Amino acid sequence: MSSAHVIPSAVVDNVHRPADIGALLGTVRPTETKPYVVIKYAQTLDGRIATSSGDSRWISGEEERRVSHALRASCDAVVVGVGTVLHDDPQLTVRMVPGASPIRVVLDSTLRIPDSALVLADDAATTIVTTDRSSAGRRDDLRRRGISIVVVPAGPSGVELDVALNVLRHQGIRSALVEGGASVITSFLSRNLADRLVIGVAPRVFGSGTNAVKDLGVEEVSKSLRIERRAVHLAGEDVLIAGDVVWPRNRSSPLRGVLELTAAPGELVGTERRGVGLQRVGGAANLVGIAGVETGAGGDDERRGVGNELLDQL
Ligand SMILES: NC(=O)c1ccc[n+]([C@@H]2O[C@H](COP(=O)([O-])OP(=O)(O)OC[C@H]3O[C@@H](n4cnc5c(N)ncnc54)[C@H](OP(=O)(O)O)[C@@H]3O)[C@@H](O)[C@H]2O)c1
Repeated sequence: MSSAHVIPSAVVDNVHRPADIGALLGTVRPTETKPYVVIKYAQTLDGRIATSSGDSRWISGEEERRVSHALRASCDAVVVGVGTVLHDDPQLTVRMVPGASPIRVVLDSTLRIPDSALVLADDAATTIVTTDRSSAGRRDDLRRRGISIVVVPAGPSGVELDVALNVLRHQGIRSALVEGGASVITSFLSRNLADRLVIGVAPRVFGSGTNAVKDLGVEEVSKSLRIERRAVHLAGEDVLIAGDVVWPRNRSSPLRGVLELTAAPGELVGTERRGVGLQRVGGAANLVGIAGVETGAGGDDERRGVGNELLDQL
């Protein structure tokens, strides 16, 4: 006689077959300063988004990739880092389902993007977010090809994401699908700029390769990022897991990152979002909000002092 146990089904808010794009996407909630940001990637069971040689095609099956295209078609922008452009040369258009392609956004602080990149082809609009570390001549060349170029301050890992998102929002973008790679995913998560995670899990194990998410400074389980309002879907052989991104309230590392930025003159000081802590120093003249513009007095040392003082308070 069989001794198999029957366990009551786990509590998941939504289990759908086939995939329901609306349930995966969640409630689109842009703010005045930022589009609604959804991070989407396909990983193996052991959390890899590429093999050790950088190969990621294709980790997931056709049905899961069709879901990716449907998510693209539901968003105003699709965002990748220049690393993904260099590795994979994606088109980032909607091809597997009916629907319009979103604006393609590449984060590329020094304009390493090759002229031959497929994302520069004219089958959809493309914006490159760069910094003043890129050459003005190259920016002009790309503009002549019809590519929109946005220059924002440099951040700790490339372009300053808060400002980039603010610019995109002011251009009318309400929702952005961030498709990777690992560095960009990590930047969005560590800065608490992602609203929702959609992960396609393929029935594969690589053993080594590129982790989907790099170090987020989580040292205790209780301080880990979690997802809430989950939706779980089956897509062919793959399982899609989605949820709203939630960091514990007492997590200090995203703010620490912002504070470190305050040390360099001319760099972004903070943002409205995380400016709550910054504003507690009493509206110091050298700390301003979302545009990342520095005003008033205060040299390096003074800004460092403000930063440390704040860290003590937090
Ligand atoms: N399985 C999947 O779903 C999937 C999806 C996408 C990619 N991938 C894989 O991921 C790998 C690429 O990942 P990756 O980490 O090398 O590249 P990436 O995250 O696509 O791009 C990283 C680059 O973007 C630029 N960047 C600009 N602003 C940034 C910011 N705020 N934060 C982070 N990066 C910023 C930086 O270059 P600059 O400093 O020059 O600006 C950085 O080196 C490839 O192997 C690809 O196949 C897998």
